[in-house]
Amino acid sequence: MEEIEQAAGILAGASDVLVFTGAGVSEESGIPTFRGTGGIWERYRPTVYGTVPGLTAAFAFRRRKLAAFAVEALEAFVQAEPNPAHLAIAELERMGIVTAVATQNVDGLHQAAGSSRVLELHGSAYRVRCRRCGTRIQVPRERLARVVSDLEGSPSRRRMLAVLREYGEGCECGGGGRPDVVFFGESLPPGVFEEAAERASRCDLLLAVGTSGLVMPAAGIPLLAADSGAKVIEVNPLPSGLTRLADLFVPLAAGRALPAIVEAVKARSDRTPV
Ligand code: OAD
Repeated sequence: MEEIEQAAGILAGASDVLVFTGAGVSEESGIPTFRGTGGIWERYRPTVYGTVPGLTAAFAFRRRKLAAFAVEALEAFVQAEPNPAHLAIAELERMGIVTAVATQNVDGLHQAAGSSRVLELHGSAYRVRCRRCGTRIQVPRERLARVVSDLEGSPSRRRMLAVLREYGEGCECGGGGRPDVVFFGESLPPGVFEEAAERASRCDLLLAVGTSGLVMPAAGIPLLAADSGAKVIEVNPLPSGLTRLADLFVPLAAGRALPAIVEAVKARSDRTPV
């Protein structure tokens, strides 16, 4: 495909590429996206299940649906493995082309694939943050898997509270934890957006993969890169809020496009005489 060769040509000439990813990069790992057909927000209203006040109300009045939401979201994370798109992005880092990944995802799959500089703009499902002292604590995959199995069926209020307590426990100060993820209306983790913005303003190419580009401030990262003179390549089977900005749009699923682009970059360097 022509766009694969064009993308490879641009990437081969770049040395400071910031990758910006969204839910679409993990779709082929079995994690549902938020928007569009089959997306999480089609079945669960984002004003309820994407906000702290909404979740609090759901705990009081919609416990069964809240448990179903938590099981659906967390089960996908627990079962997911990196797909060829995550692996290709990590490979581009080893090739000295990609310098960092700024992701809106909370699934840890870029790190699992081997990317070493991952800026988690919306936090991580594998961490809790102490409500009392703010300490961040890792949550092992097994504990997340236990939360999923304990929430299955229709847990009572008491049972659900016990599960949430177990999920958030571990801080030395004795305070309870909450998921270290960003809900709508909350600030991004300190320093993370700033580093992503700084990298966006100096990168020579921004590679956007699998995002609708609709949620601010994260979606400001590609805008900042473009405004600062970087080229923008977008990989997405459908046009998005970023497509108008892109110098090159690759209309394919990430797991198909990115390995093909990596192979095309390698083929070019094999042809380059040393
Ligand atoms: P969205 O669900 O808004 O968008 C997913 C994008 O991925 C869409 O543009 C799809 O066309 C594209 N897509 C689907 N399958 C793909 C594939 N196999 N390969 C490549 N692209 C594919 O997800 P995000 O843009 O990540 O925030 O959403 C941004 C934020 O909105 C999320 O981080 C979350 C959400 O509400 C918070 O919760 C704060």
